[in-house]
Amino acid sequence: MTDISTRKADHIALALQSSHQASQGAGFDRIRFEPNPLPQISLQDVEFNSDFLDRRVAAPFMIGAMTGGCDNGEMINQHLAEAAQTCNIPMSLGSQRAALERGLPQNVRRWAPSAIVLGNVGATQLQQHGLDLAKRAVDSVEANALVIHLNPLQELIQPDGDRDWNKVLEAIQHCADKLNVPVIVKEVGAGMGPNSVKKLMDAGIKWIEIAGRGGTNWASIELSRNGSEREREIASAFLEWGMDTVEILPAVHAACPSLNFIGSGGVRNGLHIAICIRLGAKMTALAQPFLAPALISTEAVIEKISIVEEQLRWAMFLTGSQKLSDLRKATLQKSFNQRI
Ligand code: FNR
Repeated sequence: MTDISTRKADHIALALQSSHQASQGAGFDRIRFEPNPLPQISLQDVEFNSDFLDRRVAAPFMIGAMTGGCDNGEMINQHLAEAAQTCNIPMSLGSQRAALERGLPQNVRRWAPSAIVLGNVGATQLQQHGLDLAKRAVDSVEANALVIHLNPLQELIQPDGDRDWNKVLEAIQHCADKLNVPVIVKEVGAGMGPNSVKKLMDAGIKWIEIAGRGGTNWASIELSRNGSEREREIASAFLEWGMDTVEILPAVHAACPSLNFIGSGGVRNGLHIAICIRLGAKMTALAQPFLAPALISTEAVIEKISIVEEQLRWAMFLTGSQKLSDLRKATLQKSFNQRI
């Protein structure tokens, strides 16, 4: 296996370990809906079909970015893509860098011919290779949109990671200007706050996936793979770097209400999805929760999707929300230390 492939295989194995999930969670347990014991609706009438990128999808959540689908990622991607196709939920690919660099076939459209599929490249690869890379990422999988991931802390911890981020914002802006599909910018688990979100909005970005702290901890994963004692001591100060998903969402939504936010980072069930929607997200994404089922079968991923959907349905029923527009107005309990 090449270096990138070895790294990706390590990431998959390590992401499954609970020790690399944020110990405190993403803060969802600090947010509670006011229970509504008089829902005045029927469970079967709860609806959460959603609009995403001008298409109707079955639910306001998607399979988060994990693998570009080469080497051991191929089987994982097949199971995820077939489930996305069957259930009509969007699927975000992981970084396509290895596949594009090595000219490997990417088969996602064989398994998900009509699902919403999002391509994925790293911001620093985009900075180096420009629009050409972005176009190849999109064309190679007929992507409905391109996701550009921002992962500066992860790059710092990787021994050969990119340290020069000078022209990343310009590269993103150029891509948003010229690419013929929407560009979505995401973090990978440390989140991004109002200042960065405003810069991205000014650069022409309309969709942001916040990927806040609280789920898969990339600092912890990279630290366990790399480094001399000195490097590990430096990096260990940043193990809890970032902002919790539930803190970021209301902050960025208030700062940039016209932007479309994808709530992610530590989203683990349908109740968490309901909280993200209530806090301003139009869509949500779960990555790590789909990894274990994807290692088993397409049916296992479909089963996981249906459990998450049922949890969302219950959360909506228990708040008396027949539609997502009702859920967006559902009353939250405020705990003492919460700023929302
Ligand atoms: C990821 N993630 C990710 N993101 C990205 O934009 N490109 C990528 O290649 C990958 N690769 C990847 C591999 C694995 C195994 C996991 C679990 C995750 C990050 C992911 O999309 C997400 O932003 C974070 O993991 C936080 O979400 P969860 O895992 O807490 O739901």
